[in-house]
Amino acid sequence: MNAPPKTFHVKSFGCQMNVYDGDRMAELMAADGLAPADADVADLVILNTCHIRERATEKVYSDIGRIRKVAGKQGRVPMIAVAGCVAQAEGQEIVARARVDVVVGPQAYHNLPELVAKAAGGTAALDTDMPALSKFARLPARRRVPPSAFLTVQEGCDKFCTYCVVPYTRGSEISRPFAAIVDEARALVDAGAREITLLGQNVNAWAQGDLGLHDLIRALDRVPGLARIRYTTSHPNDMTQGLIDAHGDVASLMPFLHLPIQSGSDRILKAMNRSHGRDSYLRVLDRVRAVRPDIALSGDFIVGFPGETEADFADTLSLVDAIGYAQAFSFKYSQRPGTPAATMTDQLPAHVMDERLQRLQAALNRDQQAFNRATLGRTCTILVERRGKLPGQMLGKSPWLQSVHVIGDHAIGDLIAVDLIRADPNSMAGSVPIPVAACAPPGPLDVAGHSNEARASIGPFAD
Ligand code: 5AD
Ligand code: SF4
Repeated sequence: MNAPPKTFHVKSFGCQMNVYDGDRMAELMAADGLAPADADVADLVILNTCHIRERATEKVYSDIGRIRKVAGKQGRVPMIAVAGCVAQAEGQEIVARARVDVVVGPQAYHNLPELVAKAAGGTAALDTDMPALSKFARLPARRRVPPSAFLTVQEGCDKFCTYCVVPYTRGSEISRPFAAIVDEARALVDAGAREITLLGQNVNAWAQGDLGLHDLIRALDRVPGLARIRYTTSHPNDMTQGLIDAHGDVASLMPFLHLPIQSGSDRILKAMNRSHGRDSYLRVLDRVRAVRPDIALSGDFIVGFPGETEADFADTLSLVDAIGYAQAFSFKYSQRPGTPAATMTDQLPAHVMDERLQRLQAALNRDQQAFNRATLGRTCTILVERRGKLPGQMLGKSPWLQSVHVIGDHAIGDLIAVDLIRADPNSMAGSVPIPVAACAPPGPLDVAGHSNEARASIGPFAD
């Protein structure tokens, strides 16, 4: 028998879906009467884990050890729950190896309060069932969310890329119902959201009958108070013409597309079972750019997939050169237990992967800086999300998902027009144009129509 926990802490690793799930777990525990606390003092620590790369499992075990050590020094024994994809993949093994109190998979965390109660009764509680979507109906309403909020609309994946654990840990593709999503979007706006990012492992595979993601986006575009819509992550084969068209004419849909390809080599794409080629990917991007020329493109890359030759890798570099991504993520291939690629014979040595990753990241950084420079001088709207480190400095996101610093009296959640005046390696500096009517006495204006005073108010930017 343990005392029922009075305080909790959720620590999330990995993707934005996990951030969303972690927030919802926190809301669930708060609704159950527990108070949030720091990890080092909480009675219950929920580790919301990621299994996609590296030795994520080992990270969980070392975290558990660290939490117990800190608590031990204080004479406490916290309850530990392992949630997320490692919980789904390892299940009973975690209970056996680390004697944790609760193991709960990504489709079952709505049962956390009962599992915690069972564990408080002295029995380790495990739930890795994958019931179709029942969890969303059981989660409490959201009361307070940041201006930029996540909304999971789709889960799971049926694509079975040969390197990836997601189809095993998150299950097959499931779309949440249209009406439930629109209701949740309205509730998020009431709770403070001005921007919503629709989430799914294959978000553009969202479907309900004849409806596709673009229909959902068009419905959300009509939700009063919702200024911006984004979605991630997409698969090239699910980029329908309807979705591409939405980029052309839905004003609240931001000009940003995260569309992973993983490799520029057709041979490797085939071995990865990506079910699309290099050219078909490039053609999709051409079609998106045709309707939205300023779209910022993003992607994911894996270097060092089994059998990747220098020529294959050169194809990846030439694809990157041809596209000019605004930003992109790149990873060393990681052998995941249970995936087909893990047993392929021609695994590459670590030093080859390291060296290729460096070259790829140099190219991606170059392109990110070129993209940022290309937006210099543009006026755009930013959504203010938080304070910066300097006095009076605020940080927001441009439509192209750049971080933008401004100095000024702005509130979190404000949408403000800024001129992009400086491109730093990972962010932009913006200045707020002073409306002509607000300048008294009327002074000389520069060619762009903005007073020099406004520009002089820009401080040093650092965050
Ligand atoms: N090794 C390296 N990267 C991987 N990803 C998925 N599985 C692996 C793996 N086994 C990357 C892909 C995917 C992103 C979410 O993680 O690039 O798009
Ligand atoms: Fe993994 Fe491929 Fe599915 Fe993406 S599309 S989640 S990489 S299996």
